[in-house]
Amino acid sequence: MEERIHFLRELIHTHNHNYYVLDKSEISDFEFDKLLEELIHLENENPQFFDANSPTQRVGSGLSSKFDTVKHKHRMLSLGNTYSDQDLLDFDKRIKKVLETDIEYVCELKYDGVSISLLYKNGLFDKAITRGDGFQGDDVSQNVKTIKSIPLKLKGDYPDDFEIRGEIFLPLDGFERMNQERINSGLEPFANPRNAASGSVKTLDSNEVAKRPLDCFLYYTILEKSQQKETHFDSLIDAKRWGFKVPTETKVCSTIQDVIKFVSYWDTKRHDLPYEIDGIVIKVNKLSQQDQLGFTAKSPRWAIAYKFKAEQVSTKLNSIDYQVGRTGAITPVANLEPVQLAGTTVKRASLHNEDQIKKLDLRIGDVVYVEKGGEIIPKVVAVETKVRDLFTSQELQFITHCPVCNHILQKQETDAKHYCPNQQSCPPQIKGKIEHFVARKAMNIDGLGSETIDLLIQKELIKNIGDLYDLQLIDLLPLKKNGQKWASNIIEGINKSKEMSFDKLLFGLGIRFVGATVSKKLVSHFQNMDNLMVATFEELESVDEIGGKIAQSLVDFFAVPSNIELIYKLKGKGLSFVVSQSNSILSDKLKDKSIVISGVFQTKSRDDLKKIIEQHGGKNVASISKKTTFVLAGDNIGPSKKLKAEKLGVPFVSESEFLKMID
Ligand code: IVH
Repeated sequence: MEERIHFLRELIHTHNHNYYVLDKSEISDFEFDKLLEELIHLENENPQFFDANSPTQRVGSGLSSKFDTVKHKHRMLSLGNTYSDQDLLDFDKRIKKVLETDIEYVCELKYDGVSISLLYKNGLFDKAITRGDGFQGDDVSQNVKTIKSIPLKLKGDYPDDFEIRGEIFLPLDGFERMNQERINSGLEPFANPRNAASGSVKTLDSNEVAKRPLDCFLYYTILEKSQQKETHFDSLIDAKRWGFKVPTETKVCSTIQDVIKFVSYWDTKRHDLPYEIDGIVIKVNKLSQQDQLGFTAKSPRWAIAYKFKAEQVSTKLNSIDYQVGRTGAITPVANLEPVQLAGTTVKRASLHNEDQIKKLDLRIGDVVYVEKGGEIIPKVVAVETKVRDLFTSQELQFITHCPVCNHILQKQETDAKHYCPNQQSCPPQIKGKIEHFVARKAMNIDGLGSETIDLLIQKELIKNIGDLYDLQLIDLLPLKKNGQKWASNIIEGINKSKEMSFDKLLFGLGIRFVGATVSKKLVSHFQNMDNLMVATFEELESVDEIGGKIAQSLVDFFAVPSNIELIYKLKGKGLSFVVSQSNSILSDKLKDKSIVISGVFQTKSRDDLKKIIEQHGGKNVASISKKTTFVLAGDNIGPSKKLKAEKLGVPFVSESEFLKMID
């Protein structure tokens, strides 16, 4: 049995490496899934053979309340930036002045993601730490372990104990897929792949991270002198042999002119890559020369980053549209004369808010410069005022009334945006709220796509989310020819949604700043809607992770009579505004106790134990500190955790003792 488990682990590691690092697959997805399923089954049956680096551990390990902070053994520095050929020539000159010889450089792509430091011990993945402030970062191991191109087990003649650094990123196709899914689920899309990668690495739910198509290039090994190769390039080859995905478009250049050629080639070719890069990194190849050059306080003297300029084009501003969002926020959008930019045709550009328009002194008919930075839609960055017709050109006046419902707009000092306050009857707000409510992350009602919602609003069958629950088959049947199935699907979906949990329902209400995570926090604290509705600003703000902005938004929401009416209507229709039994508080036996779970358990899963702790009023914490009440310790508890607990005098409680404790 043990042998089969080891065999399957090795085999799956190899297939993962072939597929995610070498881009070749030797077995079908079906065969791969079967192997993985068998391993999962055997591991579940035989928990004594648990291995944190088994390929099954890439699926994520549930929620953590926060990340441990870990000090970097070697500071995580950044690179100096250059923007022109002249800067590169100066860099070359500076280096030659110190070394007084010809220099070989290695050019690599500068991946636009988040930097990460990986630690390996005895060929096994040990930890992944974010850059943080350069001195210390977050231990995001559980999340990083889900990235399939990062080896959990190394191959060949790797050193016993070493660190390797690289960049986690999201390939463009994965980014687009993920954003589309977010939009479909009513979530805000990420602005660019970099934000999406960095948000993912810092997500507290590693099961969620496992679903994101992250990838990682490793470009810098930190080794003892005796283990080092002669050049940086050779060290990349070593890293590749050990199983890492190393930069692919790398070039060794013997002159700075070759470097400049490489840079200019990729400045235009970068748009053909399946991921984003924001420049080129140039490194002195010989490690002995790197040592001679050393570091400044901020960056190595032996490397530099050439940053590409964001691409810009000029075009004409034809008009401005004002879009109304779900919360009533007004966003001005520029309609442009279509123009080619970074491989796509640009017709619209974001203007954000009135301040932005004023700052640019933007006027209809202006020649404007548009830039594709990291945003999904391009930005207007400047206006060519010299070619403006001074007789016809007029200063732009921001709208005073909602472009759709004509209600007078409001703007608060503290917020750059204008809002349409007509929440109850402004059509785009009504539609936006319904779309948010039915989205997958909220009430997950099938069959209610954008067009159907439009149709139902247009036929005056619904004007708020409460009306969904009045809909009957007889209302829908006349709307579509042969629409029996279509209509019954919708009604079925709506009825099924009545079973949705309170936190999904609260999120679905679309209260400003109350996202999915905040909803969960509120629900677990207040337990039911009656408690939440009467909570004061101070009570709300005192809840863990609920700030003033959220607290105020909740107070404002519950002060609107139609919102209260809606809640009562939904209650009357049988929707649940109470925490379900399995999540509810069972006792306060663990009140004020901070508990760290560590190791492998015999009868309960870690997630079950976490839930039990919360149900009995305790707090799950990720790292051991003086404040920890006890460590709930299973088998194979990590040596560093053990040592830390012993050092701080934090007691260990076994699984059976714990279960007795809560009876
Ligand atoms: S080398 C000690 N190589 O760019 C220097 N960095 O602006 C180690 N980056 O912090 C960094 N691609 O996060 C290096 N091929 C590459 C890179 C790269 C992206 C990032 C990295 C670094 C930042 C500097």
